[in-house]
Amino acid sequence: MAISTITVLGTGYVGLTTAALLVHAGYTVYAVEPHKERLDVIKQGRSFFYEAGLDPIVKTALDSGRFIPTDSYQDGVPNSDVVFSCVGTPDNPDGSSNLTHVFDSAEQAGQLMKPGAIYVQKSTVPVGTGAKLATKFSELSKDISYVSNPEFLREGTALEDTLLFDRVVVGGNDPLAVGTVLNVYRTLEERRSSIMKIAGLPYRNIPGEYISTGLASAELIKVTANAFLALKISFANSIAKLADKSGADVVEVMNAVGADKRINRAFFNAGRGYGGGCFPKDVSGLIASGLDYGVDLDIVQATKAVNDSMPGYVAEKLQDALGGSLSGKRIAVLGLAFKAGTSDARRSPGTALANLLSSSGAVVQAYDPKASDEAAKNLVSEVHLTNTLNDCLKRCDAIVLATDWPEFTSYSASQFAKTTDARVIVDAVNALPKNDFREAGFTYLGIGR
Ligand code: UGA
Repeated sequence: MAISTITVLGTGYVGLTTAALLVHAGYTVYAVEPHKERLDVIKQGRSFFYEAGLDPIVKTALDSGRFIPTDSYQDGVPNSDVVFSCVGTPDNPDGSSNLTHVFDSAEQAGQLMKPGAIYVQKSTVPVGTGAKLATKFSELSKDISYVSNPEFLREGTALEDTLLFDRVVVGGNDPLAVGTVLNVYRTLEERRSSIMKIAGLPYRNIPGEYISTGLASAELIKVTANAFLALKISFANSIAKLADKSGADVVEVMNAVGADKRINRAFFNAGRGYGGGCFPKDVSGLIASGLDYGVDLDIVQATKAVNDSMPGYVAEKLQDALGGSLSGKRIAVLGLAFKAGTSDARRSPGTALANLLSSSGAVVQAYDPKASDEAAKNLVSEVHLTNTLNDCLKRCDAIVLATDWPEFTSYSASQFAKTTDARVIVDAVNALPKNDFREAGFTYLGIGR
């Protein structure tokens, strides 16, 4: 089936990246965003969140005349050969995903889609959701195919992850629709070196795999991949706790363990635990799916429990180093984004730590190069945000490094020593050279170091 026009529903990290890249692959793309402020920014050729390299990709897409940001389904959906759903799945109070937007968007688009078109689910949904949606589409009797195309991009490296992918997975009941969607990605792959040039990112020719599966498998692949990466992190954090007691350095341990190609070093960094819009939700979601189907996923529950324990573990370390009490101690928390390279502070360990230290009686000042505005929504009012790193480091008793932004890790131990009165530093991301800090007169505490 020949594809010329595509609609992308939702313009978050996944939606905007996908929409803009598909324009560069040669398609005409409508991107539907209901929030006026966000839409206005996109119409100016920019993204409304920070993502390396994305602005020039959005700008050139817009300049081509084939990128149409809109707040209306009506503009693009009726002409589209393919509709990608990239709508948000906010958290329910129990940590699982709220699928209201997923079902509403499918319902709205389904009414407008032309016969024979393909609906592609990129939003992360619990296994079994696609079967329900596919039934709804079949009831429209318009021969619309439903496929699942899970997303594996990371915030901060969205373009590299999409263009230099390890694998593209498309699952569904209609082999023709699955093949058509895989071909859209093949077209994108053909153009990837020139797109990377526009984004100002280095190009490497790495071959990725194209994988077609059944519908439920594709849904389960997505959450299984995230839960396994989260499991690796919690595993590293469990070993870090033992390393703290036994005098080992978890970085040395994981470097050597990860050198075994069967195991792999990636996602083995111990620290304050994982956060963000995906791992916490997907781990909780997988536990919930298990329970729905009567399966106890103990190992996934343990992954969550270890992660939940980490901010408290970091705070205890700090408390011990400060003589047993945090009360009245001035603490500088560096890093509120859930990881470096993003302005996203959803379920951020740095934010959780700042709040925890504050509620334990500490006087907390915090700084982040990009995520202060986002983090402010979730910080208790007692936490004071500073505009610069230097301001944050002035007049404090201890420092907690919670995100490995280059602005922090490129600051040498002697620069820290000159800027701050603090002589205790808790490196909650194990990103600083511990010996340099010890030589510069700091009590350096890593996690498992
Ligand atoms: C994650 C996955 O890595 C993507 O493949 C997936 O597409 C995405 O979720 C999603 O489901 O949309 P992301 O949440 O952007 O991507 O961030 P990651 O780079 O995976 O980091 C997640 C968290 O784990 C961060 O808080 C990070 O600091 C932490 N982390 C990561 C560790 O604590 N240790 C590590 O070794 C690696």
